[in-house]
Amino acid sequence: MEQKENDTAAMAARYQRFDPAAYLQYNYTPPRADFDREDSIVPWKLARLHRAFAEGDIGGELLVDVGSGPTLYQVLSGCEVFDEVVLTDFLESNREELRRWLRDEKGCSMDWTPYLQHVCKLEGRRASAWTEKAAKLRRAISDILPIDVHRPQPLDPRRFPPAKADCLVSCFCLESVSPDLTAFTRALGHIGTLLRPGGHLLLIGALGESFYMGGPGLKIPVVPLGEAEVCASLKETGYTLIRLEVYTLPQDMRVGVDDVTGVFFAKAKKD
Ligand SMILES: C[S@@+](CC[C@H](N)C(=O)[O-])C[C@H]1O[C@@H](n2cnc3c(N)ncnc32)[C@H](O)[C@@H]1O
Repeated sequence: MEQKENDTAAMAARYQRFDPAAYLQYNYTPPRADFDREDSIVPWKLARLHRAFAEGDIGGELLVDVGSGPTLYQVLSGCEVFDEVVLTDFLESNREELRRWLRDEKGCSMDWTPYLQHVCKLEGRRASAWTEKAAKLRRAISDILPIDVHRPQPLDPRRFPPAKADCLVSCFCLESVSPDLTAFTRALGHIGTLLRPGGHLLLIGALGESFYMGGPGLKIPVVPLGEAEVCASLKETGYTLIRLEVYTLPQDMRVGVDDVTGVFFAKAKKD
């Protein structure tokens, strides 16, 4: 128990040096976000999220994104289905980055316009509809909350009652904040308490990754996951898997900011 707390405390200490602007630069610019390439990693993720929300089985009022970081791509499809979206992150610096975008302030580290345009095209709309999508997302985001997935109640229950969410999205969070597979599975169980029974989880994450760079000189350890581990953890924490899809990184997407070999996308339903 004490070791577990030491490990997660060491992880939390490391995250204090996380650099949102550098992280965005490493992962959310070309070649990883090249909208002219079918095999680029970001378009792959956006297509999976678009399909998952377009299938018609996901619904309700409230979508919660767990461990949003400084990014918004993961809620661009969901905001068309849910009237309310709650973003969450452990770090104030990431929450502040999201607030800057929400208030349409100057000084954002990232221009999400190409992302909004791309998702509009996936939805069969003209790219120029991106301004409407941005406005819709800004209206939908009702809160940006602190979260710690290592706590049995990851969100403050006074601000977010248990089982309130109709759907959870979480991308590259649990494996990159957990010291080992046991902690990853435990964290998956913790975030499940936010979701109502019958609600959906869309989980995206890294395969075979042992570290990523959270900023210059900041190497963050990651639990190296395989498909079998992801499936077993979902089962153990009370989810029925609907679909697991895997993307293998082409050689030129291996740009030295991590040692990821692939990405998984899981669509699951809470029992
Ligand atoms: C690899 S980033 C993923 C960010 C974003 N979701 C994405 O898709 O790029 C991991 C995120 O987990 C957050 N984090 C760190 N410790 C956490 C914890 N104990 N609970 C929840 N999130 C945490 C970090 O602040 C960071 O934003």
